[in-house]
Amino acid sequence: MSELQIRTMTREDWPDVAELIHVSTNYWYEANRNMRIFRCRPDQVALFCRVYEDLDPGCCLVVEHPETGRIIGSCFYHPRETHISLGIMNAHPSYFGIGVARKLLEEICQIADERQLPLRLFSSAMNLDSYSLYNRAGFSPYASFQDMFLDVPAEGLAVSVPGVNHVRDATLDDLVEIVKLEAKLAGINREKDWRYFLGNSEGIWHVSAYETPDNELSGVIASIADPASRMIGPGVARDEDIAAALLLSELNQHAGETPVWLIPTECQSLAQTLYSWGARNCELHFGQVRGGRAGFQGVLFPTFMPETA
Ligand SMILES: CC(C)(COP(=O)(O)OP(=O)(O)OC[C@H]1O[C@@H](n2cnc3c(N)ncnc32)[C@H](O)[C@@H]1OP(=O)(O)O)[C@@H](O)C(=O)NCCC(=O)NCCS
Repeated sequence: MSELQIRTMTREDWPDVAELIHVSTNYWYEANRNMRIFRCRPDQVALFCRVYEDLDPGCCLVVEHPETGRIIGSCFYHPRETHISLGIMNAHPSYFGIGVARKLLEEICQIADERQLPLRLFSSAMNLDSYSLYNRAGFSPYASFQDMFLDVPAEGLAVSVPGVNHVRDATLDDLVEIVKLEAKLAGINREKDWRYFLGNSEGIWHVSAYETPDNELSGVIASIADPASRMIGPGVARDEDIAAALLLSELNQHAGETPVWLIPTECQSLAQTLYSWGARNCELHFGQVRGGRAGFQGVLFPTFMPETA
């Protein structure tokens, strides 16, 4: 095959990119883990194009097959003040192993290097293909996370935790404090993401805030309810008790459904609480960084939709 060509995704590419993300991800997980990630229709995966183009227009790269022009690779990236994060990366299964992802990654590494910003991402600790791709490019893990899921009863979870009465719906009035809290606990700034969730123009986001009796914002968590993604996160909390209260409230926003979320593996007490509610693990992920240091205090809830941290 002649040299792979990269270009920026256009609006007309959305159906092809949605189908690529669907087939690539499901193929890999069916072949290696005996499971599917996307149970929705391929066209519904255009959620990624829609949300990411809303947040970061022009920040998706695609690789075209040099002879047919067919899109055989795609990757989104998300420039923020403090960092650039790398979103969902996919190669078409018929073209695995020929350098499609490496080509996309090289281009995004160059963008990050030019802007002198660290690159961040969350990659599966159970997918050596992606771990190796990123590790070869200079990424290294700074923390591990466990992915958990739970069938939330239609009537909501019949459990309680201390502090749950301090959780309320967040509004745009909380934006400044949310951004400050995330900067303090996670060391990143992504004001436009929080503005986007709180604005909720598509009606698919919900955000909960934890406010102490002396009116200090001490935790925040968002979630998405869409056929292509039902995830809880992103979020941060000052400690594991606050994290449990936030998770309980946000889980009950998904009554009758099975949301997925990630917690740091070091949060043992939180994990035990979640097991007692019936939660189970489904995967492990590494938070990875290239070209800088990363870390967090308290509890961090990463997410893949949108993967901007
Ligand atoms: C992960 C994925 C993106 C890789 O795409 P790809 O185009 O097949 O990857 P490439 O051909 O560019 O190869 C990546 C690199 O990893 C290397 N690699 C793969 N397995 C390796 C291993 N076990 N040890 C060391 N290196 C390894 C390859 O040699 C290659 O490096 P090189 O080009 O310097 O030799 C692809 O498998 C995919 O789309 N999977 C489904 C979706 C997914 O998991 N996405 C990633 C998480 S968002």
